[in-house]
Amino acid sequence: MKLILKFFAKAPGKIIITGEHFVVHGSLALAAAIDKGALVQAEAFEGIEILSKTLGFYSSKKGQVPLSLKPTLEAIKATLEFIGEKKGVRVMIDSDLPVSSGLGSSSAVAVATVAATASAFDHKLSPEEMVNLAMVSERITHGRPSGIDVNVAVYGEVILFKMEEKPRQIKLDKDVEFIVCHSGIEHRTSKMVSKFSEMKKSYPNLFASLVASSNYFTEKAAFALMNKDLTTLGAIMNFFHSVLSNLGMSTRELDQLIEKALESGCIGAKLTGAGGGGCIIALPKSGEARVVAESLKRKGIDASIVKLPLGGVKVWQEKS
Ligand code: PMV
Repeated sequence: MKLILKFFAKAPGKIIITGEHFVVHGSLALAAAIDKGALVQAEAFEGIEILSKTLGFYSSKKGQVPLSLKPTLEAIKATLEFIGEKKGVRVMIDSDLPVSSGLGSSSAVAVATVAATASAFDHKLSPEEMVNLAMVSERITHGRPSGIDVNVAVYGEVILFKMEEKPRQIKLDKDVEFIVCHSGIEHRTSKMVSKFSEMKKSYPNLFASLVASSNYFTEKAAFALMNKDLTTLGAIMNFFHSVLSNLGMSTRELDQLIEKALESGCIGAKLTGAGGGGCIIALPKSGEARVVAESLKRKGIDASIVKLPLGGVKVWQEKS
């Protein structure tokens, strides 16, 4: 009987705890991996074939790539070229992350795809190589991404991220629980990023000061998280939401979710990711996550608990 090897990679989605948008302009941002992600199976193949329940189907034998799969296809081509492989690959993508919702769905797919593709040819990519190859896909999807989502998908854990720098891992002595609430509304990151940047044209000095403030408060937030000082962390989150909301990144639905989370006893709450839809994160008091999440669910809110820290991309093989 012939033994068949199957190659898998699984990469997590993310929440941004502080610093989204400002990170695109040079601020630090604090982000963490979540327990939802993308699972990709890859095998060596004649030509390239991509199969995804949410993104569609592509076969190099049948021509035209659907727009939804173009970023993935380009990342696969870049990976094959990088590892010097002439043969093609077939990848099957399965993700439990909602798309266009600020939870890093496209990055998780990109990272798991490049890692599984390389693995199918017995090639182990370094974390930096995975980031670089997944960024091929992210640039097509988002235009000018900071790279924070891809870095969380690769490294996992809780990270302090700044563009052009290696992310710093924030070590947590004890688990910290957040609640993620989904507004059910999709957003376009590139549109929100350019809307956010508009203020820079009219008020460049105020804008630069806010980027510096974001950097400062993000460092404080990381320190607070590390020391489980939830009161300080919650206060910083609330302040970030207010600033982002004033800059046009929130929506009525997101503000209402924030209000409900705070009403249910959370210490802090803010939008996470690009805003304009997507999700909020809320910080419950220690040990109260379950009670708060249940109370939010009873109000008809799509709420789930994320317990930090969680790992980054995993690559493995299975025999069948
Ligand atoms: O695509 P989202 O919603 O996960 O947002 C990414 C975070 C931004 O700071 C808004 C953009 C970026 O590239 O960092």
